[in-house]
Amino acid sequence: MNQPEIPLLGGTANRGQVVRVGNTVRRPQRRTSPAIHALLRHLTDIGFDGAPRFIGIDSQQREVLSYIPGTAVTPPYPDWALTDEALVSVAELLRAYHQAVRTFDPTPYAWPSSPPESFTGELISHNDPNLDNVVFRAGKAVALIDFDLASPGGRLWDIACTARLWAPLRPDCYIDDGRRGRVPDRFRLFIDSYGLVDADRSRVVDAVAQNHNWCYDNVRSSAAQGHLAFSEYWTAAATERADRICQWYLENGQALRAALV
Ligand SMILES: Nc1ncnc2c1ncn2[C@@H]1O[C@H](COP(=O)(O)OP(=O)(O)OP(=O)(O)O)[C@@H](O)[C@H]1O
Ligand SMILES: [Mg+2]
Repeated sequence: MNQPEIPLLGGTANRGQVVRVGNTVRRPQRRTSPAIHALLRHLTDIGFDGAPRFIGIDSQQREVLSYIPGTAVTPPYPDWALTDEALVSVAELLRAYHQAVRTFDPTPYAWPSSPPESFTGELISHNDPNLDNVVFRAGKAVALIDFDLASPGGRLWDIACTARLWAPLRPDCYIDDGRRGRVPDRFRLFIDSYGLVDADRSRVVDAVAQNHNWCYDNVRSSAAQGHLAFSEYWTAAATERADRICQWYLENGQALRAALV
């Protein structure tokens, strides 16, 4: 008997095209999917369970991944996803992923775009640790999903992106929950929980600003190419907000750096 296809909501890039079928998830493939599948196979082979398993390709040429039981963090964001405990668990999950991917050899594959050169050469970074790309169980992050943007990069790039989105690093006027007024504290908590070494602490704020621009460049170019979900997202208000946050990084770099000392 055919099992029903249940739409999985939360993403933007593949909006409406990600479905659950039994204990599997079906997603559209990209040109670079073979690289991502090799990466997921590596993670499974070494016993890392914080990512979906790659199962195969279905009759509609969609990738078949294991469904990870739990809840991805989608708007309106639940309080349990915004706690300090949740933030610490995301840092620990990211670190565990970096540890697991260290031994993976990416050279045989064609990858999505890499981060700027000064953040590459170390390992395959996830590159898209958005809230809706992390699955939680019992208030703790247990898995990263959606490796579509993973590419040869580095730890610091993922750390910067994750801190930016999860602390979050933005002016308080753009935070309307219990994290308001706690940006420097949560930034430090995230960085300490990951265990970022001293030498990289001085670079992470610069990485945050560059990561912000890199991510919004991706959104802007997808919208310009006519991607419906990104076009709907990339409104004048979203553009203004992105610009204001970028300006905030420039004006608050010193204070953010000081939070890590
Ligand atoms: N392997 C999985 N296990 C459990 N849930 C999943 C899995 N893959 C996807 N989901 C759910 O489906 C939602 C959308 O999936 P996904 O992130 O793959 O979509 P997307 O459109 O590619 O996202 P993005 O815009 O971040 O690129 C996720 O937020 C999550 O709720
Ligand atoms: Mg996603």
